[in-house]
Amino acid sequence: MATAGKVIKCRAAVAWEPNKPLVMEEIEVAPPQANEVRIKIVATAVCHSDLYHLFESMPQDGFPVVLGHEAAGIVESVGPGVTEIQPGDKVIPMFMSQCRECRFCKSPKTNQCEKSWSTGRLNEMSPSDSRFTCKGKKVLQFSGTSTFSEYTVVNQMSVAKIDPAAPLDKVCLLGCGICTGYGAAVNTAKVEPGSTCAVFGLGAVGLAAVMGCKAAGAKRIIAVDINPEKFDKAKVFGATDFVNPKDHSEPISQVLSDMTGGGVDFSLECVGNVGVMRSALESCVRGWGVSVLVGWTHLNDVATRPIQLLIGRTWKGSLFGGFKGRDDVPKMVKAYLDKKLKVDEFITHNMTLDQVNDAIELMKHGKCIRTVMTVSPQ
Ligand code: APR
Ligand code: ZN
Ligand code: ZN
Repeated sequence: MATAGKVIKCRAAVAWEPNKPLVMEEIEVAPPQANEVRIKIVATAVCHSDLYHLFESMPQDGFPVVLGHEAAGIVESVGPGVTEIQPGDKVIPMFMSQCRECRFCKSPKTNQCEKSWSTGRLNEMSPSDSRFTCKGKKVLQFSGTSTFSEYTVVNQMSVAKIDPAAPLDKVCLLGCGICTGYGAAVNTAKVEPGSTCAVFGLGAVGLAAVMGCKAAGAKRIIAVDINPEKFDKAKVFGATDFVNPKDHSEPISQVLSDMTGGGVDFSLECVGNVGVMRSALESCVRGWGVSVLVGWTHLNDVATRPIQLLIGRTWKGSLFGGFKGRDDVPKMVKAYLDKKLKVDEFITHNMTLDQVNDAIELMKHGKCIRTVMTVSPQ
């Protein structure tokens, strides 16, 4: 590519400060350094975690920053030491790395690569290192990705090379939400055929969890949300029962216990609320119930009475659905291409990156599942 080795000037949505709309700016993107890949982002979506960092977490040293971590694009150039990826490859950048060398990468039990932004820097907005500048200032990268930009630079251990046939304006959603929910059911809960499941929260993550429960053979999938507008979509993904906690005076765990003769086999919390996490745990059956934390928050402690675990429940969690990104994301793309995985059904709106603030508003008010924004032509 003619741009290889040069600084690229391009457009990006910059978050200059917390709680404020993003601003479309011209930024400079430096060439990739050793083991890095510069990617032309084709499509990206707003995920709940972008909002979380902009509106709730608000670290003082986390700005200015380019948000965005759910995306797909085409490699523009690669730095020294990059062997498996070439310019022109279709890729999905990931907020979790797979270095293939650390203790965690070597274990089949986990995707918690120790090089991940998310494992080491949970409370930080982004690594202090960045390839972005704007108006003479350094602009941070978010979760090692930053996809609300025409170009970004990502370490190769956080880049999944995918099938060249994949439509990037669809598979961009496999960069976070869908894999997170689907994998939580399949990999983390290990939902069993014939089981009864409950999914709390029916955003993209929860709907993907419903899809995962169904794929694993659950016979009954109870969809729980305080927004009843989400129930129709949940049905599309395989939910069989629908519960709005606001319709009941008893605690939701009691409602689910009554519905299932003592509690569900598996429950998944896809909201990011510690109260709901507790309810989800207490909704699963004593003896063998498994509850998985999927929703993200690090601002509050989660609590329950020890007896809830002593009587045989298991409480677990996962990030990115337990998927090892470089190995598993290409498989998820393949499953979509083979029509074994729904992706299109998550897309409720299509926009361009210039409309990112509208996309954020939709997400904030629960009016969309996913808004896919076109960034560059495919
Ligand atoms: N009980 C049940 N559902 C709830 C509750 C509650 N108390 N509070 C909110 N919800 C529902 C919302 O109505 C919404 O449908 O949870 C859903 C959350 O969906 P989104 O905001 O669209 O978020 P999503 O992108 O699916 O992410 C969910 O997973 O990865 C994390 O950071 C992410 O914590 C977030 C969570
Ligand atoms: Zn690793
Ligand atoms: Zn996300």
